[in-house]
Amino acid sequence: MQRAIYPGSFDPMTFGHLDIIERAASIFDELTVSVLNNTAKTPLFSVEERVNILKEATAHLPNVKVESFSGLLIDYAKKKDIHVAIRGLRAITDFEYELQIAQTNKKLSRESLDTIFLTTSLEYAYLSSSSVKEIAYFGGDISQCVPKFVADKVYEKYGFPQNGVENE
Ligand code: PNS
Repeated sequence: MQRAIYPGSFDPMTFGHLDIIERAASIFDELTVSVLNNTAKTPLFSVEERVNILKEATAHLPNVKVESFSGLLIDYAKKKDIHVAIRGLRAITDFEYELQIAQTNKKLSRESLDTIFLTTSLEYAYLSSSSVKEIAYFGGDISQCVPKFVADKVYEKYGFPQNGVENE
């Protein structure tokens, strides 16, 4: 059975993430989407909230599990006996950062963890969780970036009515 981990912050999950999840789930027998519990950052959503969002968004994918992890990805992967990490590449600007992490993980894991990159579908190449948060912070329209139930939660965090101020 071929298994993979898709790690990330997912703060919040976007259509770009969902696209990578759906495609990775069609390649691997089992995909574990894992939310990093990074105590050094102050996220918009708690780990539990991000896990729940991912669970709801992937409920139609029977071979996808959602979990969280702390610490190094290689340690978490080793504990689960998984040897492939999935990451999405949107543009060349992602590549340098992702290559460095992939090579670090390969070296640190003593060749046990490989990274497979999926190129984000062009329609989502512009998307990032940071821009979603910035647009929503100013009450802009994020309906093309995240599922409706996620947009509602993001606006709620910023104290807006459900569709943001611009669409009232
Ligand atoms: O969604 P993100 O924030 O780009 O995801 C980054 C993530 C979670 C994949 C990466 O930061 C990670 O794996 N962190 C866990 C700590 C770790 O293993 N660091 C070693 C790689 S330099």
